[in-house]
Amino acid sequence: MDHPRVLCIFGTRPEAIKMAPVIQSLRQHGERILLKVCVTAQHRQMLDQVLHLFGIVPDYDLDIMRADQDLYSLTAALIRELQAVVAGEGPDLVLVHGDTTTTMAASLAAYYGRTAVGHVEAGLRTGDKYRPFPEEMNRRLTGVLADLHFAPTEAARRNLLREGVNDERIAVTGNTVIDALFQIRDRIRSDSGLRQALNLSFPWLGEGRRLVVITGHRRENFGRGMVEICRALVDLAGAWPEVDFVYPVHLNPNVLDPVDQILRSSGRVNLRLIEPLDYLQFVYLLMQCHLVLTDSGGIQEEAPSLGKPVVVMRETTERPEAVEAGTVLLAGSSRERIVHAVSRLLADPRHYAAMSRAINPYGDGRAGPRIAEAILGFLAGQKKRERTEHAGQ
Ligand code: UD1
Ligand code: UDP
Repeated sequence: MDHPRVLCIFGTRPEAIKMAPVIQSLRQHGERILLKVCVTAQHRQMLDQVLHLFGIVPDYDLDIMRADQDLYSLTAALIRELQAVVAGEGPDLVLVHGDTTTTMAASLAAYYGRTAVGHVEAGLRTGDKYRPFPEEMNRRLTGVLADLHFAPTEAARRNLLREGVNDERIAVTGNTVIDALFQIRDRIRSDSGLRQALNLSFPWLGEGRRLVVITGHRRENFGRGMVEICRALVDLAGAWPEVDFVYPVHLNPNVLDPVDQILRSSGRVNLRLIEPLDYLQFVYLLMQCHLVLTDSGGIQEEAPSLGKPVVVMRETTERPEAVEAGTVLLAGSSRERIVHAVSRLLADPRHYAAMSRAINPYGDGRAGPRIAEAILGFLAGQKKRERTEHAGQ
C-alpha cells in the first residue's frame, strides 16, 4: 500500500531546532508515512550545526544562502528551487515552521503545487506589520495558505480564530523548542563527561562570576538599533567589571559589522565576542548564565523554562505569555533602557528573584508527538475524502 508522503521544508537555525522534535516523532511512525526532509539552506553554517547535532540527513539540500542576501533575491531563489522538489515529491502534506522567508516561500510553493500545508508554530502575532520584519508578514501569509495550524499556545489559537481560521484545523500543541531544549538539557544533566567537555570548551567561564548571555539579529534593529545595542553593551561591561558578558555574534554582516566596529575596539575584557555556538553549547551557557539579553524569538521561549530572566531588545513581542508571567521584560533597543533594565537585574536581588522563577508557558516538551498524531489524523482524513470523491465520480 502507498504511504502518505510528508515533505518537511526548513532553512534556518531556529527552524531546524524546532523541527527536529517533529521529525523525530514522525520517524517513529515510519510504517504509516513516508517522510522526506528538504533544507533550503537559507542559513549554511548555522543550519549545519543543528542538522549535525540532531542527526538529520536531508533528502534535498538547495544550498540557497548567499553572502549578505536580500529579501528579493532570497525569495526568488527559494520559489525557483522549491518548484522541482514539490513537483518531484508530490507530497500529501508540506510541513513548514514559523516565520522565516523559507517558511513563507515553501508554503507558497506547496500551494502552487496544490499541496496541503501544515504550519508548525502557527498564530504568533504582534499585530505590527513591520515588527518583526519580515517575520510578521511571513507568518501571516503562511497562516492564510495553511490547512493545518499547530498553535503553541491558547493565545496563538485565539489569534488564528480572530482571523477566521476554522477551529477544527487548529491543534494547540505547545512549542517544539521546549522538546528540543529539554532533550539537550537532560543530555547535559545526565552525562558528567559531556559537562566536563563543555566546561573545557569555555575556559574563560569564571568560577563564581555572573554571566550575561547576549544575542541579537532582528532586521528592524539594523542600523541605528544595532549601534544603540552595541553602545549599551560597552556601558554595561564598563559598569559591571565583576560580571562576564558573552555574545555569540550572528553571522549576518549587518550584525557583524557594527559589532566589529564598536565592540571589538572597546577594550572591555569582560565582554567576549564569539562565533555562533552549536545548540548543545548554547543550551549549556543558558543553563550557566545569570540572565539573557536578546532580540531572539526562540530564546524568549527557552530561557523562562530554565528560570533565567530575559531582557528583550524589542518594542513588541509575539510571545506575550512570559512577559505576562513576569520573566521576560521588553526594553526596546535604546541604549539607555537596555542599560537600565540589565543594571536593575544585576543590582536588585529581589527584582532578580521575582523574574527568575522557572515557568513553561510555551510547552511541556511533548509538542512533537502531538503534532505527529495530528498529522496522521489529517492524512487519514485526506485519504478518506479522496476515496469518497472517487466513489462519487
Ligand atoms: C533569518 C530569518 C529570521 C530568523 C533568523 C534566525 C528571514 C528573512 N530571516 O535571519 O526570521 O529569525 O534567520 O537566525 O527569513 N549568514 C551566514 N551563515 C549562516 C547564516 C547567515 O553567513 O549560517 C549570513 C549570510 O551573509 C546571509 C546573512 O547572514 O546572507 C543573512 O541571512 P538570512 O537568513 O537572510 O537572514 P537572518 O538575519 O539570518
Ligand atoms: N542558538 C544557538 N546558538 C547560538 C545562539 C542561539 O544554538 O549561538 C539557538 C537558541 O537556543 C534558539 C535559536 O538558536 O533555539 C534561536 O535562533 P535565532 O535567535 O537565530 O532565531 P529566532 O529564534 O529569533 O528566529
